[in-house]
Amino acid sequence: MTIFGTRPEAIKLAPLILAMKKQQNRFMPIIIETGQHKEMLQQVLVTFGIQTDYDLAVMKENQTLTKLTEIILNKLESILRKEKPDIVLVHGDTTTALAASLAAFYQKIPLGHVEAGLRTRNKYSPYPEEMNRQLIDGLSDLYFAPTELSKENLIKEQRKNSRIFVTGNTAIDALNWTVQKGYQHEVLHKMKKENQTILVTMHRRENLGRPMENICKAILNIVQKYKNVEVVFPVHLNPKVREVVYQILGNQERIFLVEPLDVADFHNVVAASYMVLTDSGGIQEEAPFLEKPVLVLRDVTERPEGVKAGSLKLVGTEEQNVQKEIERLLVDQREYERMAHTQNPYGDGKASEYILAHIIDFFKNSKEEILHC
Ligand code: UD1
Ligand code: UDP
Repeated sequence: MTIFGTRPEAIKLAPLILAMKKQQNRFMPIIIETGQHKEMLQQVLVTFGIQTDYDLAVMKENQTLTKLTEIILNKLESILRKEKPDIVLVHGDTTTALAASLAAFYQKIPLGHVEAGLRTRNKYSPYPEEMNRQLIDGLSDLYFAPTELSKENLIKEQRKNSRIFVTGNTAIDALNWTVQKGYQHEVLHKMKKENQTILVTMHRRENLGRPMENICKAILNIVQKYKNVEVVFPVHLNPKVREVVYQILGNQERIFLVEPLDVADFHNVVAASYMVLTDSGGIQEEAPFLEKPVLVLRDVTERPEGVKAGSLKLVGTEEQNVQKEIERLLVDQREYERMAHTQNPYGDGKASEYILAHIIDFFKNSKEEILHC
């Protein structure tokens, strides 16, 4: 049983679900969307042609984390009891992933965590994702770590070595599916070849309010100063994000505020951009693979591999610093090229295949060891 609720979980579980469907003699996938996201989740399901078996439809505007967790836990209990899956798979660090992990544990169903072991070690950044991920790893039986570093993080926490598998990240599997030469989309048509296009996304809870305002002001300053710079900004559906972004960046020439893009459209827009400015987790993995430098609008990241490789730079959320770092990439071509061409730490695009092979092995071997925690 695969359980997900938000856009990034669906994008990174889609390749795994499609791979399972190719092996019908071995897997009988049951797919559950909690509906933590609504429109932004449907976009992904349509792109990958995935139909879910259950939709818990939990999204409500301004819902607290407590309420969201409670409703998902409650609704999953009866489904898990009815379906009795052999294993539950979750992805990443969202509230859906944590609630689903707890629900599986309560029914004593083995749990596999895709994208396990990422850490900032900062309890409130990202919030609540850092603790969600740590708690999910506390409940998991199988750990699919994207890199050696994420495996090391799990080993340090005494997780059982023989249950940790370095698979790469399924984000790369997805990119191999979505990015195509000659791709057509209206946003791509708006982007002028002679311009430097900055692609922006923002949504993190810790950036809501003042930090987001600072970043928007920096973007505005840049566009006013550099006449060959344009911005493409698919604005997250969170009303708290939209209010700030439209107020500061709305109705500006060369700033295209657009609705969240379908994932294939988005990936192809990344591929056609000059650089990326984001507080997203997943985009820190995707953009470097597409050879685009990323300025990360955060003080810490659970993806230090990209920082070490040189494709990501943490620039925080202060207006002046964000502006300075954007300018550097616009004018300093050596720095730009250095960041654009780095080693991809996230594997060979076959993470889904490896994950499924490890699940098959798990069921071949004795499951008694599962009691070890
Ligand atoms: C959630 C995850 C975050 C992940 C992000 C991906 C948690 C706590 N947060 O954050 O880890 O990085 O998704 O985008 O799990 N909304 C819509 N339609 C949608 C989606 C969202 O209207 O399709 C609006 C709703 O008003 C919703 C709000 O956005 O209440 C916030 O959604 P929520 O899932 O709580 O938080 P995100 O910031 O999206
Ligand atoms: N994405 C998308 N459309 C958009 C913006 C992002 O499909 O308009 C994709 C992006 O390619 C990545 C994922 O959404 O795979 C990242 O989602 P988000 O930034 O919302 O969440 P995070 O990764 O921070 O958890």
